[in-house]
Amino acid sequence: MKAITYSCYGPPNVLKVKDVEKPVPKDDEILIKVQAVEVTKADCEMRSFKFPVKWFWLPLRCAFGLRKPKRQILGSYFSGEIVSMGKDVLNLSAGDEVFGAAQLRLGAYGEFVSLPASYTIVRKPENMNFEEAACVPLGGLNALHFMRLANIQKGERILINGAGGSIGAHAVQIAKSLGAEVTAVDKAIKKDFLLRMGVDAFIDYTKEDFSNGDKTYDVLFDMVPRSAYSKCINVLTPNGRYLSGNPNLAVMLRSFFTSRFTNKTARFAFAKETREELLTLKQMIEDGSIKPIVDRVYTMQAAPEAHHRVETEERTGAIVIKIGDRQSD
Ligand SMILES: NC(=O)c1ccc[n+]([C@@H]2O[C@H](COP(=O)([O-])OP(=O)(O)OC[C@H]3O[C@@H](n4cnc5c(N)ncnc54)[C@H](OP(=O)(O)O)[C@@H]3O)[C@@H](O)[C@H]2O)c1
Repeated sequence: MKAITYSCYGPPNVLKVKDVEKPVPKDDEILIKVQAVEVTKADCEMRSFKFPVKWFWLPLRCAFGLRKPKRQILGSYFSGEIVSMGKDVLNLSAGDEVFGAAQLRLGAYGEFVSLPASYTIVRKPENMNFEEAACVPLGGLNALHFMRLANIQKGERILINGAGGSIGAHAVQIAKSLGAEVTAVDKAIKKDFLLRMGVDAFIDYTKEDFSNGDKTYDVLFDMVPRSAYSKCINVLTPNGRYLSGNPNLAVMLRSFFTSRFTNKTARFAFAKETREELLTLKQMIEDGSIKPIVDRVYTMQAAPEAHHRVETEERTGAIVIKIGDRQSD
């Protein structure tokens, strides 16, 4: 089978399409013919081995491969079709069109991937094509996790910092579906995209600081690493909630003191990405609460361009690679 592989860490052009061995499913696994995969920031970080959290470099390097990557086929969030399965799999069938997450097994940059049936993989919503569906699991699962933690009530005001990314764009849609008034913070090229996703107000962070002025928020969902913690807490209403999806050690520590000694709550979390959450997202897609966020679709050969577009943040929405030689829907 063909797969986009990388045999050394480096710039986008280390990605090469090669012939590799097709995986064989174990008894508890499903073999999926991958149709589309989202290109994420994490894919680019694993490829280049440049991570925002510097102190974690050595443990990560040991885990991913000291001299060269141990897993040479990237790809975590995908859509595809089940072609066969091991004898112990009962919950899915050959022919099912699915979407989901490959977790740390990765491998969805290849034409076939074999994954445990217990992973977060469910039937794809009928009203999304493969490319659109592949863009949901990363952003949708993480956003849903945080929006549930925020316990948003109808009419509450939420500010989403970093709203133009995969997680932010889904958080916008989920918050709107819960009846919140949403203010999005990101840079100007993402404004039209975010208005299409339904935001009520937009702040361009390159021109304006959201903490200036009198406006306060019941919830602040922060996706931006190194954002100013005190400013975030200061714009909360009494009893307001701050949620960090990208906490550093200082934020973790300060969150404890905020929640313990003030009437505001600060929390950080790492999403679990469960099947129940993916089924909820499927339902939200089918009832129209979540719309597709695709920016551009690339072929396997154009994987370096796809990575470049994610790294340079020219995108407005999600970047997808169509796997195999199928025509796009
Ligand atoms: N806690 C968890 O469980 C969890 C899980 C997955 C991912 N994450 C983390 O969550 C973050 C967001 O993920 P994602 O996939 O949505 O990332 P993403 O697609 O890169 O989105 C981040 C967005 O924030 C914008 N941004 C950058 N600096 C900003 C600033 N100062 N103010 C406002 N917006 C700013 C970016 O725009 P520009 O860069 O173009 O300005 C981009 O639109 C990542 O850092 C990821 O590591 C956390």
